[in-house]
Amino acid sequence: MILSIGSDHGGFEMKQELKLRLVSDGHKVLDRGCISPDPVDYPDIAFLVSNDVVSGTAQLGILVCGTGIGMSNAASKVKGITAALCSNSYMSRMARLHNDANILCLGGRVIGSELAWDIINQFLGAEPLMDEKYMRRRSKVDRME
Ligand code: RB5
Repeated sequence: MILSIGSDHGGFEMKQELKLRLVSDGHKVLDRGCISPDPVDYPDIAFLVSNDVVSGTAQLGILVCGTGIGMSNAASKVKGITAALCSNSYMSRMARLHNDANILCLGGRVIGSELAWDIINQFLGAEPLMDEKYMRRRSKVDRME
């Protein structure tokens, strides 16, 4: 899969580790920063990853900040993005199945890297359900933009 990944300083360490694991699993990973633990503004990174997903440059995105909250707020402002902040694997699987989320957000200061890895694999392994009821609900969310 082609994935776009990014973090601010709060998620930098986790992003670096996840990127290596994703690459070694055979994914193509576009790293949109940050490139060091020096402070950056999370919306700048969220914007880059969101654009990759909306343009089709990447199939899905992963954003990491301290809590995951800032990244999910920022990415969800971009038309065409459904960002889901997940702190367990059930949430990330359901974010794909029911919500058709296209960006997964993680809190690098909230969860450990093994849990983050499991959350990612559930997210990447699930496809959105196309039942009429789920599609109707997603359309209603889209119409709120
Ligand atoms: C940075 O200190 C922190 O505020 C940021 O990583 C994130 O948690 C914001 O939501």
